[in-house]
Amino acid sequence: MADVHSATRPTALITGASSGIGFATARDLALAGWEVACASRPGGAGAEAVERLRRDTGSESLHFLPADLSRPQQAVALATSFRERFTRLDALVNNAGAYVARRVVTRDGLELTFALNHLGAFALTAELLPELSDSGGRVVTVSSDAAKAARLQLDDPNSTKLYYGWLAYAWSKLCNQLFTGELARRSARLGIDAFAMHPGFVATSFGHTGGWSERAVRLGQKLFGRSPERAADTVVWLASSSEPSGRNGAYFVDRRERPFAAKARDQRAQQRLWELSEELVSTALAGGASSSSWGTPGVRRSSDRALAGP
Ligand SMILES: NC(=O)c1ccc[n+]([C@@H]2O[C@H](COP(=O)([O-])OP(=O)(O)OC[C@H]3O[C@@H](n4cnc5c(N)ncnc54)[C@H](OP(=O)(O)O)[C@@H]3O)[C@@H](O)[C@H]2O)c1
Repeated sequence: MADVHSATRPTALITGASSGIGFATARDLALAGWEVACASRPGGAGAEAVERLRRDTGSESLHFLPADLSRPQQAVALATSFRERFTRLDALVNNAGAYVARRVVTRDGLELTFALNHLGAFALTAELLPELSDSGGRVVTVSSDAAKAARLQLDDPNSTKLYYGWLAYAWSKLCNQLFTGELARRSARLGIDAFAMHPGFVATSFGHTGGWSERAVRLGQKLFGRSPERAADTVVWLASSSEPSGRNGAYFVDRRERPFAAKARDQRAQQRLWELSEELVSTALAGGASSSSWGTPGVRRSSDRALAGP
């Protein structure tokens, strides 16, 4: 039986905490006395990263939870294993993400960038809404200003018609903002705050996908990239400071509120993406069958504080 961790300390679940911005966020929150669950792929750098974080911070309150968030099943299983080991959730940081140069289709039939950068975060958040509600928690989703360049492709979320890595990436980051807008409206009654943010151009492993493109990204990062610690500052602030309270549904850059990308402000698109995401997660959980029964689980479990659509 896994340990159950402290109910007294504030607790965060950070996805993509094995490197870059997520790693720096985990370190800062651990140093601030938080219990921190760090999620990333099984077999990746996650377990070792948590060991390093423990050594660096002297904190035993860091824990590795493996999950491949490009698979909705694993996002749901991550929520279950979090629930088994932790008694509260004050901040969920949806940070795991990637740029994928050539189109990859996951075993669920989903395009990888969309599946990881948006759908995994969507499924995990939806599953954990009751826990977030119990703690009056926050959802911080690491988006990007790249969303400004995106097409609104609700009719082709998996980029079957046209695939360019950066276009698919921009679409997934637009989804992060659309999702945050809809989540903010739906969850206000649950006492949850939802924020999205842009971390700046950061020198991390992001974009290291081989070939000339990696060389260009590495050069840019060396010349212009900010440190992951600096990028994490706004994430940590959104997760833990009282200052952003009351700004549910807002987008931040360097602790300052900024407008969403123009296409992310469309409330019908926000709602449509939510419904589409429910359908896609349902289908993936049903092993490809189109009959959909998942619904947003947070709705079912917190029926007394029903999370109905607006
Ligand atoms: N770097 C930038 O300039 C920049 C700018 C704007 C936005 N962002 C956003 O910032 C976030 C963090 O990126 P970063 O720059 O810190 O890059 P990074 O160093 O490459 O970190 C990405 C993290 O995501 C995890 N990850 C990758 N695939 C995963 C999967 N299938 N399931 C679970 N976890 C997975 C990785 O862990 P494993 O490989 O161990 O699984 C790693 O911990 C991303 O959402 C990115 O879009 C970055």
